[in-house]
Amino acid sequence: MSGYQHRVAGQRLSRLDGVGKVTGRHVYAADFALPGMLFGKILRSPHAHARIVRLDTTKARALPGVRTILTARDIPIIRFGTAIKDRPMLADGEVRFVGEAIAAVAATTMEIAARAIGLIEVEYEALPAVFDPEAALADGAPLVHPQWSTYQALPVFARDGNVSGRCSIGHGDVEAGFAEAYRVYEHRFTSQLVHPGYTEPRAAVASWDGNGDVIVWTNTQLPFDMKNMLADVLDLPASKVRVIVPGIGGGFGGKLRVGVEHFAGWLARKARRPVKVMTTSEEELLDAYPRQPTIVTLKTGVARDGTLLARKGQVIVDCGAYANSGPATAAVALQVLNGPYRTANLFLEGVAVYTNKGATGSFRAPAGPMANFAVESQIDMIADDLGIDPLDMRLGNAFHEGDSGPAGEKLASVSIAECLTRAADAIGWKDRKPGRGRGKGIACSWWMTTGGSSGVYVKINPEGTVTLISGAVEIGTGALTGAAQILAEELGIDLADVSVADVDTESTPFDYGAQGSRTAFSVGNACRVAAADLRRQVFEIAASQWQVPVDGMRLDGKAVVLGNRRMTLADIAALSLRAGGGLISHGAVIQPMPTFDPARVRNHPLPAWTSPSYHAHAVDLSVDQVTGEVSINRYVVVQDVGYAINPTYIEGQIEGGVTQGIGQTLSEEIVYQDGRVLNANLTDYKMPTAMDVPRIESILVQSPSVNGPYGAKGVGEPPCIQPPAAIANAIAVATGVRVQTLPITAEKIALARLDEPRSSQPKSRRDEPG
Ligand code: MOS
Repeated sequence: MSGYQHRVAGQRLSRLDGVGKVTGRHVYAADFALPGMLFGKILRSPHAHARIVRLDTTKARALPGVRTILTARDIPIIRFGTAIKDRPMLADGEVRFVGEAIAAVAATTMEIAARAIGLIEVEYEALPAVFDPEAALADGAPLVHPQWSTYQALPVFARDGNVSGRCSIGHGDVEAGFAEAYRVYEHRFTSQLVHPGYTEPRAAVASWDGNGDVIVWTNTQLPFDMKNMLADVLDLPASKVRVIVPGIGGGFGGKLRVGVEHFAGWLARKARRPVKVMTTSEEELLDAYPRQPTIVTLKTGVARDGTLLARKGQVIVDCGAYANSGPATAAVALQVLNGPYRTANLFLEGVAVYTNKGATGSFRAPAGPMANFAVESQIDMIADDLGIDPLDMRLGNAFHEGDSGPAGEKLASVSIAECLTRAADAIGWKDRKPGRGRGKGIACSWWMTTGGSSGVYVKINPEGTVTLISGAVEIGTGALTGAAQILAEELGIDLADVSVADVDTESTPFDYGAQGSRTAFSVGNACRVAAADLRRQVFEIAASQWQVPVDGMRLDGKAVVLGNRRMTLADIAALSLRAGGGLISHGAVIQPMPTFDPARVRNHPLPAWTSPSYHAHAVDLSVDQVTGEVSINRYVVVQDVGYAINPTYIEGQIEGGVTQGIGQTLSEEIVYQDGRVLNANLTDYKMPTAMDVPRIESILVQSPSVNGPYGAKGVGEPPCIQPPAAIANAIAVATGVRVQTLPITAEKIALARLDEPRSSQPKSRRDEPG
């Protein structure tokens, strides 16, 4: 990078998918239709745990317009899943949560399909259920999956009964650390179930062709994973499943896994007609892939000056009835719980638990907000108790360049101190207790850039422009515009000269998918490799035309340049089409996992993070003295993005992530009572509106990563990690009330103030050394 001014990368250019989206012309999966298409609807269980003793579809079948009805009896019993293959498409004799699919109907209209669902007769025999994850861990708890040991699972996860995965990270001797500590603090924090809140429901259209191949148009984030998982469920070789992604109206992790595609696939196969299945808001809140509720206990021993001497923590992740990504989420929670801090002695354990509630998934920075809420709330509680400034306590323990991470991996490009200092300066930290009812809070974290492989093809078009063919989908982040900026930069062309093809698993190269803050990073890297290959091919054509060696050639202004010779890319494209079938290049990359110390980790699928990013959030808020209502005055994010490929879209990610974080912190919760969702609608599930969100100020730090394109780091997930802790810390300053359960509703603050009108100090357990 040094001394080189980028023309396209790093610029605030408009996104390639922007015009279609703002004008309403973009075709999303929810818009997609085929001629003669039927509509599918799902019958869902009203019981949390029950045996199905009778299932009669006779009346529903007799309804005019009904074409197909499927129950578990009509299809092979195949279990699918991410960590564990524990989930059947339709309940196989037993339901495990309210909302679980029992039968699927395809009819000529959505209304007829819905009416048919109501005509299916089911009798149940209730079974004992367990809803609380700690109760599910107790001896003698009812097993959500009595046959758990027969399921296929990734071998890394340690399973036992209701535990779908147990893992740990640690080093040193925590008990010795506690023994020498000046004080030891133990706290418990809980977080709630929250929905990703994408605007477009999950939707899929499936159609079978004459060869017995199925094509599925769907809004998945992971078309290649979808292809494999669907092949499993449809009992087909993967080569017979083709996944095409028209457009996605937001994903946030909620569209990673099979959700409606398998219903569409099986219904279309039986009906011999294309079938579309799309969720309602109620279905989204009953049976989607929301963020798991967690219980975090954290015991921390410190020296008099606040130095972290020992930490012991446990995260219990309530996965609901099917494990999905819960075991991996419990594992990733451990790095977040470690925080960007040096800790002399450490033992952190993650436990993923089955309960009789809806299945869960990976929502933007899985485990991030809940683990960070615990660690960053506790830092403030300890600092207050020791009479230390919480900013100083963070800076005093923060990672330094070259330190080891929790798994013993070497850390590079460590910018946490800079992020903290700049966030504190921006919010006016010196005046963090401005007066009654107002306070400022800070929280920091680190986060991974997910690895996995990416492949791209770059094809030259007759006019000398190029098409980027990537297996990664644009989920609304602008990440593919970012990758295209890298490509344009490398080829000496403009962003407008790059078009991005839709993803079709039949023709686009493999990509690990739009997940884990990896898309611009990984596809950008693949673009650099493909650009180098295309340059070589272009130079060879110019060399043969000019009868000179390629030495010294470069691409500039849409042309090959050598001294005062110049040949446009359009001319090269024309030559290549006539003589060589056109030019196409391939770029493929894999991000390596850093080396780590295997003795420090147990049953952890992702022990060391590649190219981690660092970030700090600071908030200034006021709390209504009577109602407990929180108003955010200012919100500042300082995020190390390594290299800002397109600052506008990074700011967009920050604003969106903070907004989701504010929702999780103050208002959002899928409320369960006795296994039933009480608020399965978007009126009572309270996402923030434009009126609730303050202006969010973004400060981008650019401390280059070792592996990213031009030093970029992943940016998409981090912004939703810190809001719970930053806001909780500011509320504690403003009111003296420390809420340790999310969401921090006005009611909780107001009631806590009634309980302890004079309390201004957080409670803590104080153990003197020895
Ligand atoms: Mo993300 S939760 O990896 O889409």
